[in-house]
Amino acid sequence: MGRSCIPRCKVAKIMGWLQIILGGLVILVSILSLTKFYSAGLLLPNEDICQHFYTVKDVYGDFDAKVLSDRIGEVLESLETLQGKLESKVQEMEKNKGILDKKFLEDEIVRPIHSVNVALRHIRVPKIEGRNNTEKDDPLINFFITEEIRKYITPKENRVGKINLYGTNKVYNTIGHACVMYKKELEEYMDYDIGSYCDDDWNLAQKLMLNGCDPLPRRRCLTRASMVYQRPYPINESLWRLPDHRNVRWGNYQCRNFECLSSKNPKRGYSKCSSCFEMEKEKLKWVSNSSVSTDFLILDVLETKPGEIRVGLDYSIGTGTFAARMREHNVTIVSTAINLGAPFNEIIALRGLVPLYVSLNQRLPFFDNTMDLIHTNGFMDGWIDMLLLDFILYDWDRILRPGGLLWIDNFFCNRKDMDDYMYMFLQLRYKKHKWAISPKSKDEFYLSALLEKPPRAI
Ligand SMILES: *[C@@H]1O[C@H](CO)[C@@H](O)[C@H](O)[C@H]1NC(C)=O
Ligand SMILES: *[C@@H]1O[C@H](CO)[C@@H](O)[C@H](O)[C@H]1NC(C)=O
Ligand SMILES: *[C@@H]1O[C@H](CO)[C@@H](O)[C@H](O)[C@H]1NC(C)=O
Ligand SMILES: *[C@@H]1O[C@H](CO)[C@@H](O)[C@H](O)[C@H]1NC(C)=O
Repeated sequence: MGRSCIPRCKVAKIMGWLQIILGGLVILVSILSLTKFYSAGLLLPNEDICQHFYTVKDVYGDFDAKVLSDRIGEVLESLETLQGKLESKVQEMEKNKGILDKKFLEDEIVRPIHSVNVALRHIRVPKIEGRNNTEKDDPLINFFITEEIRKYITPKENRVGKINLYGTNKVYNTIGHACVMYKKELEEYMDYDIGSYCDDDWNLAQKLMLNGCDPLPRRRCLTRASMVYQRPYPINESLWRLPDHRNVRWGNYQCRNFECLSSKNPKRGYSKCSSCFEMEKEKLKWVSNSSVSTDFLILDVLETKPGEIRVGLDYSIGTGTFAARMREHNVTIVSTAINLGAPFNEIIALRGLVPLYVSLNQRLPFFDNTMDLIHTNGFMDGWIDMLLLDFILYDWDRILRPGGLLWIDNFFCNRKDMDDYMYMFLQLRYKKHKWAISPKSKDEFYLSALLEKPPRAI
């Protein structure tokens, strides 16, 4: 009797727990519906019932009842699956007089019950009595299922009610609002074991960023690195030399080394800035006289403000050549970089320069009136939406210091759009140092401009 009973007794116990959980859920749901009626005024005799009906939404404030009911639905569904599995297992055991194995218990029962438990604990029910409307519940937290995302976006209160150095009592971890549209991908991205190695999935991360899930949540896994990483070249060599290909993880690219990224290779796997990985060509940029009037030289640009240009931003697609040249003039340049089919971030860093991994989505991470120079080349062309460009231009204006230079370098667009873009660049009433237009093809034109932000005496 004793031996054969053990597994079945266990199962019976588990079924008991399941029923308790289900019962709890039913109670929870009933309370919630009751609250709804309560707020609707059905239990308040002297109130105008109809009016309350119409203000249910207001009473609930920013608590999202739909998200809650969705989550309860999910939990109920997983409990139902669990129950089905258990019942069929019990039948199977009765037939075969089999015994319940540990692995089955762990994989099929303990873990699902644990995750159901966790999910239930994270359902945020609005406080019914004395709810304080100034205390806002974050509607996003209930939206995500993956534990790690919810942990990340839950505001972290300072310990024992202290105020931190920012003067706030909690710290918010933020994610881009478009993460909501990429729930599945984000959950895949955040699905890892804490402390173990992350997947080699920077391209999934970048896809999320470029689609507006930007900033991405931080992760608590160890990022992979090249297994044969070499000491980088010293700075007197690294600026103008292709780095060691062993220092890059190539798994998500078509190429496997820097030489393969040459514009001569039709299968290089990227299209923007096609000869950027050929140092002989890079060495000529911005220093050698060209027949094209829109190619300005670094020396000429620096001469407009001798000694004043010290820090700047290169808002471009490239391998850091502009920053390398400017470094030789003792100017520190930060270069934006997105890994569009090639390891742009890695090559900039391996050359000994600073890559800034940002997309067009974000406000720039610099304070107002701080930069001496913004250079832009190849990032934005005639595809860009006027409203987007407007926001970007004002952001550049914000970070440029009075007297700072905006160097628009070979922006190109269709002939018919040229007037609109010219208006955009001139609307901020910058001082024009240089201005040139040259044909690119039959219908397209290049525009280059060197503009100076005026002082603002207000
Ligand atoms: C609601 O919150 C505000 C600010 O946090 C506080 O001043 C107020 O006393 C609270 N009201 C209640 C009823 O708790
Ligand atoms: C770079 O500098 C190191 C010492 O700082 C020197 O040994 C080496 O020869 C230099 N390389 C070149 C190419 O000048
Ligand atoms: C470019 O041309 C100008 C005049 O045509 C000349 O003064 C200058 O030295 C040239 N610069 C280079 C780098 O060849
Ligand atoms: C850059 O700074 C170094 C050291 O201060 C100096 O020797 C060099 O002449 C400067 N280069 C330029 C182009 O100003």
